[in-house]
Amino acid sequence: MKNRSPEGQRSRQATIAYRFDGPVAIIGAGVTGASWAALFAAHGRHVLLHDKDPERSASGIERARKHIRFLLGHAMADPYQVEAGVHALRSCATLPEAVEEAAFIQEAVFESYEVKRAVFEAVDQYAPRHALIATSSSGLSISRIQTATRYPDRCLAGHPYNPPHLIPLIEIAPGTRTAPEAVEAARRFYESIGKAPVVLKRDVPGYLANRMSAALWREAINLVLDGVASVADVDRAIHLGPGLRWAVMGPHLLYHLGGGKGGIRYHIEHLRAAKEAMWHDMADWKTIPSATAEVLEQGLPGPTEFVELAQERDEKLVRVIKALRRSEGS
Ligand SMILES: NC(=O)c1ccc[n+]([C@@H]2O[C@H](COP(=O)([O-])OP(=O)(O)OC[C@H]3O[C@@H](n4cnc5c(N)ncnc54)[C@H](O)[C@@H]3O)[C@@H](O)[C@H]2O)c1
Repeated sequence: MKNRSPEGQRSRQATIAYRFDGPVAIIGAGVTGASWAALFAAHGRHVLLHDKDPERSASGIERARKHIRFLLGHAMADPYQVEAGVHALRSCATLPEAVEEAAFIQEAVFESYEVKRAVFEAVDQYAPRHALIATSSSGLSISRIQTATRYPDRCLAGHPYNPPHLIPLIEIAPGTRTAPEAVEAARRFYESIGKAPVVLKRDVPGYLANRMSAALWREAINLVLDGVASVADVDRAIHLGPGLRWAVMGPHLLYHLGGGKGGIRYHIEHLRAAKEAMWHDMADWKTIPSATAEVLEQGLPGPTEFVELAQERDEKLVRVIKALRRSEGS
């Protein structure tokens, strides 16, 4: 007779060996899904892309191919791996077709509990038991999404920083029912396609990167609304100052070095009063002030410049990523 006690369930789930010998299924072929497809295919993985809208599936494949050409054109991908991946890259008309043999499923559908829970429930039903299911969600809790499945142990957040085919960071977060083995397997899997994972001990809104970015952005908005500086100068103050250092090291380590021989302890003691004065003076609103969009728009370029600027951003990003790779010897 099967052991149905909670202890029995736990021990049965703990023995699952998550394996990656099969296709990668991507559910949702929008901005993020197409970029994921490019990354996995560029690393030689067999990618199956499904979107509920067949036109989005088709255009997702086209956009993925365009991203791959960009990676090849900038020597950011190995042509041999790309050849295998591009050859196998295709869309699937139905979700079961995409996931039934998948070894890893990366979900990238609309940001809604209703939509994501329904997708997780369906993926869980059709995917092999050893496959992991990762949500790309930027702001929803995997703990709440995974309760839609029979096997929540294999569900986790695998949050990319857009665009995933360029930016190395991936944030892995477990839900309350995720198996530790699943987190470890996901970390290894993402590393195998060149990602740089960080692993959260629990899921919090915004994970690490967006959460810290949101804290900074609130003050960036505040400085403009308060008339302290222009939109352009607030942006320049970040990307020509701290942004350069943050591309190399994180804030804790940088401040530790900034403290000289006394390290972070000296830094805190020495600058405590100055930092606390800044925090007292800063904005702490929880809702974005009503005029924010109008004020920021006055200092930002119009839509006609978006394509060119996005291209400039990606070209510069590639140069920074390649320089960092060279300095790390990879
Ligand atoms: N855009 C970003 O900068 C970014 C960054 C990191 C993470 N994300 C996350 O990625 C996810 C997708 O965001 P996006 O910007 O790519 O959105 P998007 O609107 O570009 O794409 C979403 C796609 O999902 C499809 N879809 C919706 N319901 C579906 C279903 N039931 N089955 C199959 N396909 C379905 C839609 O047709 C659409 O093509 C979100 O959870 C978002 O939080 C986005």
